[in-house]
Amino acid sequence: MAHRIGVIPGDGIGHEVVPEALKVVRAAGVELDCVDYDLGGARYLTDGTVLDDVTVAEWRGLDALLLGAVGTPEVPPGVIERGLLLKMRFDLDLYINQRPFVAPDGTHDFIVIRENTEGTYAGEGGFLRKGTAHEIATQGSVNTRFGVERCVRYSFELARSRTRKHLTLVHKTNVLTFAGDLWQRTFDAVAAEYPDVSTAYNHVDAACIYFVEDPQRYDVIVTDNLFGDILTDLGGAVSGGIGFASSGNLNPDRTGPSMFEPVHGSAPDIAGQNRANPVAAILSAAMMLDFLGETAAADRIRAACSDPSTLTGSTTEIGDLVVARL
Ligand code: IPM
Ligand code: MN
Repeated sequence: MAHRIGVIPGDGIGHEVVPEALKVVRAAGVELDCVDYDLGGARYLTDGTVLDDVTVAEWRGLDALLLGAVGTPEVPPGVIERGLLLKMRFDLDLYINQRPFVAPDGTHDFIVIRENTEGTYAGEGGFLRKGTAHEIATQGSVNTRFGVERCVRYSFELARSRTRKHLTLVHKTNVLTFAGDLWQRTFDAVAAEYPDVSTAYNHVDAACIYFVEDPQRYDVIVTDNLFGDILTDLGGAVSGGIGFASSGNLNPDRTGPSMFEPVHGSAPDIAGQNRANPVAAILSAAMMLDFLGETAAADRIRAACSDPSTLTGSTTEIGDLVVARL
């Protein structure tokens, strides 16, 4: 039976990479019944729509969502990011952001689990005396025992399922002594239930060095929303480039659809030129297939995307190459 998928190409290169991902999924023999949603900065500029609750309610009946990229320079920062992307993550309770990284030469293979519904992204804060010489801006970080624990537990389960069974907590416990303390205590408490998983802790600044100089040390990493955002761009940069970095915004409890998207943005500078690398979107679609139980097709797609140095050409040429390899 066909899977019912909501497709949101979004803005910029999203419109170029998403069709390639769908082309590859279909070539892998998986039937998709797609519902298209015209959302993003361009749509907002046309009629002011960002994302309404009726659309979110409609999504709850779908099996998954595939997103290209959102954001455009003509719209002030935050409108689309918060109103569309973060609203999707929060309303659908996509509390895990899973981002795998494999070195082109296979020397490292790790997964970052980014908490996806709390931290500084929760949007706590505000202005006082805005625009005056005495203005104040606060930006809080929300960390709940419930939110941290479900993310940490997911990471232990994931680590347990892998060969090395090694989980690293990344935070900044030496400075963020409230949030960091909650994360460390939660991590330690859950670790006691997973004696088969070895653990480590890195400060986020040190982790930046290790990502570049010794990424082999990592198997699974768990971290908060903002550290995870920053670290996963670096993860992409040290793993063949951001054009290969895929992600899944997961609701592991399956109380709604999960959403899959490349780590990269809408890249307005190269949009419309058939130059964007579609592999990140293709690999994100493969993650979607994993989540839908189509693991054989997902594995075939990942195999067709291996050896990234040979995946060159235009957006559509790379899509065709992956299809040919299938
Ligand atoms: C990402 C992006 C988003 C984030 C932006 C577009 C809001 O950078 O998915 O990594 O910060 O989470
Ligand atoms: Mn990011």
